Amino acid sequence: MPDDSAGRRPQGFFTRLSHAGRAGGHTHGFVNPPLMRGSTVLYPSCADRVAYGKRRLDQALVYGTHGGPTHFALEDMIAEIEGGTRCQIVSTGLAAVTTPLLAFLNAGDHCLMPDSVYGPARTFAGGMLARMGVETNFYPPEIDAEALAAFIRPNTRVLYLESPGSHTFEVQDVPALSAAAHARGLKVLMDNTWGLHFFQPFGHGVDVSIQALTKYALGHSDALLGSITTASEEDWERVRTGALQLGQYASPDDCWLAIRGLRTLGVRLERQMESGLAVARWLAARPEIRQVLHPALPGAPGHALWKRDFAGAPSLFGVVFAPRFSAAATRAMIDSLELFGIGASWGGYESLALPTTGFLTRTAEQKDFGGPMMRLHIGLEDPADLIADLERGLAVLAGYQDAG
Ligand SMILES: Cc1ncc(COP(=O)(O)O)c(C=O)c1O
Repeated sequence: MPDDSAGRRPQGFFTRLSHAGRAGGHTHGFVNPPLMRGSTVLYPSCADRVAYGKRRLDQALVYGTHGGPTHFALEDMIAEIEGGTRCQIVSTGLAAVTTPLLAFLNAGDHCLMPDSVYGPARTFAGGMLARMGVETNFYPPEIDAEALAAFIRPNTRVLYLESPGSHTFEVQDVPALSAAAHARGLKVLMDNTWGLHFFQPFGHGVDVSIQALTKYALGHSDALLGSITTASEEDWERVRTGALQLGQYASPDDCWLAIRGLRTLGVRLERQMESGLAVARWLAARPEIRQVLHPALPGAPGHALWKRDFAGAPSLFGVVFAPRFSAAATRAMIDSLELFGIGASWGGYESLALPTTGFLTRTAEQKDFGGPMMRLHIGLEDPADLIADLERGLAVLAGYQDAG
């Protein structure tokens, strides 16, 4: 958080985005932290090398894999945005999921994940974590604290949260679930990519916050990065040690792009939130649409929790078509869109549409959303153009003739 030692009011998000990561030696006199690349670090003497080796967890030049000034500046920025103590940058959003899971779980441990979890996190749990002797169970994401307690075993060590789910947008009661987990000594890890700065994880009981910086932070669909931020110094040391042991490294070029992207994050998010809500409202009023899964939309699932815990919403949401339409018809509609790319990685400046029917894996409960589904990401285009494109698409949907 910003320095309030002089009794001044806390600085606003836009101000902090403009100034974060520029303190200390990060900028070397320039406005922006420069891009610094390097593998080998040269030491003045053998004794200095030993001394620096002891500072392996610090923001110190030790060896390339330990990061350099460009990484450190980005880590400071993310810790600032999320209100955390310290941050570790890793190569991708998925690495930001897997690294803390590996850091906090041992053979014989048990982990709990929401049924709505990001697919590759589920794959990792069923793959490498299972091979290492860690068992994972999936719980209904909208579970309350009392029901969650029934899932916790003596060997459960991690409660993993993702709120809302990035395909089906169930909002979790993070403070209540975190409190229940802490009462049983669990560590609470959360994928906060959707919430970004709109959800302050550490004020809601989370210990470790995961971000796919690939999304809005980088914001231009041209690089991948992940961040792991912790509430406590102790947890950060555990994450950092794990990342170093795994050889986790992010290109400083990509960190530099993220720093650049973050300077405009506030204005992009504000604009994308408004455009996303405009498109969501328009869709919600259409007869072809059964439901819009946008937590910030009054009446949408999870809206009350969103209103309680979030300060805003990014522009990623789900759409459930009326059950009279087939999945093939909705795919034809998506294919016909001119301004929406068909792609997965959201948070860029461009709009995307993705069919979700048939791609969702559920094991805790078979949830019926009542019709075929798609996910939309709204970019920086004019919302009126996007709505016109969707209107043409809905005409294709209505006119689609199913084979046979
Ligand atoms: C919620 C969520 N978490 C993590 C990731 C992983 O990010 P990356 O693509 O950088 O590995 C994604 C990517 O789509 C995501 O949607």
